[in-house]
Amino acid sequence: MKSKSVILPKDEMPRQWYNILSDIKMNPPLGPDGKPVNPEALTPVFPMPLIEQEVSSERWIDIPEPVLDVYDIWRPSPLTRATGLEKALKTPAKIYIKNEGLSPPGSHKPNTAVPQAYYNKISGIEKITTETGAGQWGSALSFACAQFGLSCKVYMVRISFDQKPYRKTMMETWGGQCISSPSPYTKTGKDALAKDPDTPGSLAISISEAIEDAIGDKTGKSRYSLGSVLNHVMLHQSIIGLEAKKQFEIIGEYPDIVIGCAGGGSNFAGLAFPFVADKINGKEIEIYPVEPKACPTMTRSPFVYDYGDIAGYTPMLPMYSLGHNFVPAPIHAGGLRYHGMAPTVSQLIKEGLITPKSVNQLDAYKAGVLWARTEGFIPAPETNSALAAVVEEALKAKEEGREKIIVASFSGHGLLDLTAYEKYLSGEMAESVVEDDDIIKSCEVFKDYPKPEILKST
Ligand SMILES: Cc1ncc(COP(=O)(O)O)c(C=O)c1O
Repeated sequence: MKSKSVILPKDEMPRQWYNILSDIKMNPPLGPDGKPVNPEALTPVFPMPLIEQEVSSERWIDIPEPVLDVYDIWRPSPLTRATGLEKALKTPAKIYIKNEGLSPPGSHKPNTAVPQAYYNKISGIEKITTETGAGQWGSALSFACAQFGLSCKVYMVRISFDQKPYRKTMMETWGGQCISSPSPYTKTGKDALAKDPDTPGSLAISISEAIEDAIGDKTGKSRYSLGSVLNHVMLHQSIIGLEAKKQFEIIGEYPDIVIGCAGGGSNFAGLAFPFVADKINGKEIEIYPVEPKACPTMTRSPFVYDYGDIAGYTPMLPMYSLGHNFVPAPIHAGGLRYHGMAPTVSQLIKEGLITPKSVNQLDAYKAGVLWARTEGFIPAPETNSALAAVVEEALKAKEEGREKIIVASFSGHGLLDLTAYEKYLSGEMAESVVEDDDIIKSCEVFKDYPKPEILKST
C-alpha cells in the first residue's frame, strides 16, 4: 500500500530556522517619537534573545537543543497527500497539506510558543502574559510554559471565550490562567467596556491588556509574548516550510502553488517563506496568503505605519492595516480577526512576491466540511479559509487540465470549534460583509502617521 503521508525521519528534522530578513529590506518599527525603535527600548516587554532575533538579518539561526527536545513530541509533522479530496473534486492537481494540527494544543502555534518560553526561562523570567483570539495561541503558550516551569496568563477575546469554553479548560490543565477580554483588571479593558459593554472584543484590545499586565508587574519578572505578526515568530514557524521542502525532495516533487490562511501571518509565513526564498532566486511558484472577507486586511486596506494594539503600547509597524480601532465582525475564525498583517508578509505583498486572496465564511466552512468528509480531520475554522483557496485552485487546475502541485498549511484541528460547525450544518451561519465606509472610518487614524517607504528588495 502506498502511504498518503511523507514522514521525515527524526534525524532529518531541521536544526536551524530560516530568517527571511536576510533576503528582503524592511522599514524599521517606529517609536512614539516617529524614530526607529532602539531594540533596548523593548526590554520591558520581551527578553533580550527574542529582541535580538527580531532585528537579526542572519540567514540561519540555530534551534536550541531544549527546544528541539520539546519539538520532538510532535515534529516532524507529516506532509499528506489529499487523495480523497482530489477524487471528490475530480481534479488532476496533486493536493498536499502540512499537518500542524497534530501538536498537543492542536495547531502550529507551539512552533513559536516553545522557543519563546525557553528564551524567557533562560533570561530569568517567571511569568508570561499574552492574548489569544481563537484560543489556540493561549493553549500553545500554556503548554510551552508548562514545559519550562513558567506561569502563563492569557487574555482571551470575549467572543471566542464564550464560543469555546473548553479552550480555557485546556489552558488551565497546562497550569495557565485564562481571562475573558476586555477584562475589568486593566485600564485598556475598563476603557473598552465603558465604550461598549457588549463588545465582542478584538485581538488589538487583548494585546494591550496583556502588555499592560506584563509591564505593570513590579517584580520585573514578567514579560509579554505575541503569537504572530513579529519577525521572530515568523522565524520560528519556518520549521514548517523547511520540513516540507525536505519532504518534497524525498518524493522528487516541488509545489507550483503554496497556500496558507493568514491572521497575523505566522502559519502562512512558516510554510511559505522557505519557498519565497526560492522564488527570489528565480523559481516559478504562486504563493497565496488567504484571509476572510470579514477582516480584509491584505485585500482592502492600505500599507501604512500602525500600532499592533488598540492602546498603542507596541511600536508602529509597517504593515497592511485596517486601523487598530477596527473591531472585526464576530466570525468563527477568531484567529483571523486581526486588523494588521505581519510586516514581513506585508512587504512581500508590496513587492509582488506573494498574492493575497480573500474568502467568504460560508465557502470556508463548505471546504472544511468537504475536507472532513474526504480526508477525515476536522479543520480549525481558520484553516478552512486556506482549504477554500485550495479547492478554488484545484478546480482551476481541472478547468485548465493541468496537474498542478498544491501545498497548503493545515494550521490546526477544529475539535474545540464544534459550535461553529453546528451553526454551519444547521444553516444558521451568517455571512458578514464589511462596508467601505467602515474601513474608511477606521483608517482615518493614519492621516497624521508617518508613511512607510516603498522598498524594493529584489
Ligand atoms: C488554527 C489557526 N490557524 C491560523 C491562525 C492565524 O494565525 P496566523 O496567521 O498567525 O497563523 C490561528 C490563530 O489563532 C489559528 O489558531
